[in-house]
Amino acid sequence: NASTTKVSTEWLCNSNEAVEIQLHQSNYKDRFSPNFTYPIFGKHEQIYGYKNLKIKLYYASGSLSTYFNVSFDQKITEITPVAQPDDVIGKIKEFIPKDFTTNYDTFLNIVESDSLNFRPMGEKIDEYYTRRNDNGDDTVYEIYKTNFNTPKFKEFHRRLQIFALFYIEGASYIDEDDEKWEIALLFEKKNTSGTHIYNLVGYCTMYAYFYCDRGKITSVEKSLPQNSTLSHDIRMRISQFLILPPYQSQGHGNKLYQSLYQSFLANSLIKEITVEDPNEPFQDLRDKNDLRYLIDSKLLENIQLPVDKQAVENTRHKCRLNKRQMARCLEIYLLRKLN
Ligand code: ACO
Repeated sequence: NASTTKVSTEWLCNSNEAVEIQLHQSNYKDRFSPNFTYPIFGKHEQIYGYKNLKIKLYYASGSLSTYFNVSFDQKITEITPVAQPDDVIGKIKEFIPKDFTTNYDTFLNIVESDSLNFRPMGEKIDEYYTRRNDNGDDTVYEIYKTNFNTPKFKEFHRRLQIFALFYIEGASYIDEDDEKWEIALLFEKKNTSGTHIYNLVGYCTMYAYFYCDRGKITSVEKSLPQNSTLSHDIRMRISQFLILPPYQSQGHGNKLYQSLYQSFLANSLIKEITVEDPNEPFQDLRDKNDLRYLIDSKLLENIQLPVDKQAVENTRHKCRLNKRQMARCLEIYLLRKLN
């Protein structure tokens, strides 16, 4: 009836708005919220049973040490003892590792010691600089390559992975026992009073599939032992690509993509690069960067209408794009030439 409906909606809140994220120690103290929480709270992204609910997930911005706290002004059981409010703490706990603290002072101490002691894990594969800050220093950004065998990485990844659910539609957790995952981590490195402080900017998960020249992933890939040291041709699939919200729209997505693309080109075993379910912003980033590469490296210069199929295939093998992405780039390139 009408009064039941009224009480129900009064005790409902939007789960995206209830979650507050902060990155401590980076420049960005502003809180931000997830774009998606349906994997945690269900497809309607609503939480029942609280007024002014706040779910705080604060992170040390390098190590991702976590402060987790749930607060509210009122819980429905104070009014209706038999009501069943959602188990907010239980639901979040299913998605974060147990090593969080609920004590804010403890968290601040961890942030301080982490900021001095935390160093990125894995092998540094690239770095780039951006604008000078007020002190005239350049900010350095460093990219590290890791996998689940990298010391300390599993622990870090367990804290990190919830960001994929929060910002990539359709994302799910990847299997940390599968050694074919490669993960690139992008960090901002700040020089503060002679100490280097690292802040996480973004990351990308990639999976090394077996590559078969006829363009099909076969069951052979499944049969390769997980710790196979056999060198075989690879189809590298970008799975989850994320720049954290405070760092978006500043060119970091471009830089991370370009760096990964160059590392793929430098590996002669990687024959093809694919992307798992790219969304529109990522497809846009990919198109622009692939096209820029094709043009800068003059790989499209010999291609004219009518298009020679073999010439396109030759170019495709050089740039390692898959067929669909090669066709997209070619179409955009040829349309640019229309007058
Ligand atoms: N819509 C349209 N174009 C965009 C958008 C957008 N939302 N965001 C970036 N672009 C364009 C920019 O105009 C820019 O073009 P330019 O090279 O001509 O300047 C280019 O893409 C890259 O801009 P960056 O500033 O480098 O992009 P950013 O660092 O913000 O990274 C990304 C883009 C990865 C989409 C980031 O915003 C993000 O992580 N978003 C949330 C998570 C997400 O959607 N990830 C991709 C999911 S698909 C997948 O994982 C395979």
